[in-house]
Amino acid sequence: MKVDVLLGLQWGDEGKGKVVDVLTPKYDVITRFQGGPNAGHTLEFDNFKHVLHNIPSGIFHASKVNIIGNGVVLDPITFKKEIDSLKEKGYDITDNLYISKKAHLILPTHRILDAASEASKGKTKIGSTLKGIGPTYMDKTGRNGLRVGDVLHNFDEKYAALKDKHEKMLTMYDFEYSIEEFEAGLAEGIELLRSCKLIDSEHEINKYIKEGKSILAEGAQGTLLDIDFGSYPFVTSSNTICAGACTGMGVAPNKIGEVYGIFKAYCTRVGSGPFPTELFDADGEEMRSAGNEFGSTTGRPRRCGWIDLVALKYAVMINGVTQLIMMKGDVLSGFDTIKVGTGYKINGVVTDEFPFELPENVEVVYEELPGWKTDLTGIKAEADFPKELSDYIAYLEAKLEVPIKIVSVGPDREQTIVR
Ligand code: GDP
Ligand code: IMO
Ligand code: MG
Repeated sequence: MKVDVLLGLQWGDEGKGKVVDVLTPKYDVITRFQGGPNAGHTLEFDNFKHVLHNIPSGIFHASKVNIIGNGVVLDPITFKKEIDSLKEKGYDITDNLYISKKAHLILPTHRILDAASEASKGKTKIGSTLKGIGPTYMDKTGRNGLRVGDVLHNFDEKYAALKDKHEKMLTMYDFEYSIEEFEAGLAEGIELLRSCKLIDSEHEINKYIKEGKSILAEGAQGTLLDIDFGSYPFVTSSNTICAGACTGMGVAPNKIGEVYGIFKAYCTRVGSGPFPTELFDADGEEMRSAGNEFGSTTGRPRRCGWIDLVALKYAVMINGVTQLIMMKGDVLSGFDTIKVGTGYKINGVVTDEFPFELPENVEVVYEELPGWKTDLTGIKAEADFPKELSDYIAYLEAKLEVPIKIVSVGPDREQTIVR
């Protein structure tokens, strides 16, 4: 058996949570392999809506195993809030949830360092979610971090030593903070972690593979936020791409099966950084309001624009995508024509290769296709697609050279058409 991977091909928020939930019945095990509570994955079914941050999106299927892998960074405080809010809604999920002892811990001082670093950058800030992601991964690669397994042995001592180090680092910044405020709930979070099923997940996952169990790995963020291949430095601090699934779970590359690449029929971005096809006019406004494009984690309005095939082709290449999933076609129903970015004009030369650095205000070359001007949200089968939507899908498939196997026409589980 191989591990299938589902990952975002744009700047995040493509709808990964929804589709993982839809695909979960086909799988035995769902895993997260990178990122942390900077992620916000929204699931809607039976008039119930929930946003997950740390926990894999298979969690609402009671018979499935969900694993938080070693590549994830976990904040004990937000993790407890997440578990509590699920309990309030009637879901006690700790029985089905396993956590790698090798996942790194986000500490209160990581969040303060994140905020201090962003404040010091002024106009050049990344637009981080301020969840402490960058500083935690810096401690991981700097070989200073604390891991989930550390909660089992002398945690207080290890925490005090790292906190002390962080407090010294914080003196470099002109940044006021109250550590007590950030530390609230830490002891309870650590206690909760101690009561969870902490495992050596690389062994468990490889055992599942040997036993023939099916596994779906759920990416967070998106390819253009990848630390190596994204729009650096306006990226997150982990490998969001398919290769990150190998290191984030301890799975060998030859054990990867299908790679589902998910994208919106248009494009969005939260936070700073280049976005060549961004719209600053009424069209962008319409995408934001029709698509409810506000951050699932921070509530910030998302920047909106047309689909960008230069970036998408790059993402398909880097991830080895085998199947595409197109989301939110319903959001474009109000448009007479749909634009598609097919090239960037850089120093007078048109290229369709994603460049080392995206210049400010890069000129985009567009093609235009007719819009479908039809409400898609009630459509149940491909046979009922308006011709213009089928043409748009065929056009994208031809350009990306990968089939679009799933089309989503609304936020609910049911609004999903498998082709
Ligand atoms: P993720 O981070 O990739 O899981 O995506 P988010 O949950 O942050 O953002 C996707 C948003 O779009 C959520 O509010 C979803 O409920 C919503 N959504 C997902 N698929 C569709 C769709 O096909 N149409 C519409 N209108 N909304 C969708
Ligand atoms: P999901 O999994 C969209 C963005 C932030 C910021 C940059 C760095 O829901 O798709 P960080 O907090 O990692 O230091 O922020 O990355 N970002 C996301 N944007 N969706 C996400 O996750 C994101 N996680 C981080 O807005 O620009
Ligand atoms: Mg999201």
